[in-house]
Amino acid sequence: MTTLDFETQFFARINKDEKIEPKDWMPEKYRKTLIRQMAQHAHSEIVGMLPEANYISRAPSLKRKAALLAKIQDEAGHGLYLYCAAETLGAERDNLMDELHTGKAKYSSIFNYPTLNWADMGAIGWLVDGAAILNQVPLCKCSFGPYARAMVRVCKEESFHQRQGFEILLALCNGTVEQKQMAQDSINRWWWPSMMMFGPSDSESTNSEYSMKTKIKRFSNDELRQRFVDASKPQADILGLTLPDPLLKYNEATKHWDYGQIDWDEFNNVVQGNGPCNKIRVKARKDAWDNGKWVRDAATAYSEKQRQRKLETKQLA
Ligand code: 3HC
Repeated sequence: MTTLDFETQFFARINKDEKIEPKDWMPEKYRKTLIRQMAQHAHSEIVGMLPEANYISRAPSLKRKAALLAKIQDEAGHGLYLYCAAETLGAERDNLMDELHTGKAKYSSIFNYPTLNWADMGAIGWLVDGAAILNQVPLCKCSFGPYARAMVRVCKEESFHQRQGFEILLALCNGTVEQKQMAQDSINRWWWPSMMMFGPSDSESTNSEYSMKTKIKRFSNDELRQRFVDASKPQADILGLTLPDPLLKYNEATKHWDYGQIDWDEFNNVVQGNGPCNKIRVKARKDAWDNGKWVRDAATAYSEKQRQRKLETKQLA
């Protein structure tokens, strides 16, 4: 069979919504696109632990601390699932980590903003995890098996992340005037960076066409962004908070909320490494990797010892 035959067969499977598994034939571009997206997704999960980790020791109660700790631990697990999914396509974990530590790899721009107070834990849970859910639920139907299956587990945990964030904000909004103002200030800072999580506009998206054709992506960046706005506005009303977009207006014709212009210069600037926290985030990850070397060495030594022991037992049998 020629490559063309294989490609024809591949797209026939994609069009029948069959799952592509790691050992199946796939176009090199499909493999590379998946490694790129899954690696960035994994990096986002791991780097995403840092902004919230700041508040584990500052949580206002044991209950809040336990919920935040559980959420952050979940994010670590999400990252590990996704690194493993990338490895099924031949990606080397050490290479992926090196790309993150040297600034070569992207991760979601949202995690390059500072967390200034406890209300930010609410805004991150409600908005950032809320955006992540809208972006990740369609990925449960992604054409690549391991990615889709990882997303099923991830999305179950994201729902708890978003609920605990919304509840933090609700408590603040039902609190003192200062607490409500703290929540409003936080939403003012986190709304537009959350809108950027869905990627550039469809006309500027360089990967969407191929990702949609191969059913990695099920909906476009702008479609999912619109769902995010439509879902967030009524929730903001329940909180009694104002989304910081003066052009936000319900469109009776489309039955969607029209929204203002995203600052794409800011987006590109942060993606290129010039955001408020890019450098400290990458340094924190590199330090964690370096300081954790002894754990990796011990685990490797242990597994080698186990392998030797199994081999000797087999030889004696
Ligand atoms: N931050 C940084 N880079 C971004 C970005 C963002 N918010 N949005 C897009 N980009 C990059 C893309 O990676 C791409 O660059 P590349 O070609 O060098 O990789 C470029 O901008 C053009 O964007 P495209 O729309 O063409 O790229 P994609 O088709 O990959 O779409 C995406 C971007 C929608 C983020 C898609 O990659 C995706 O759905 N990824 C999986 C979900 C994910 O990674 N979410 C990130 C957050 S994870 C999270 O929030 C965890 C939660 O538990 C808190």
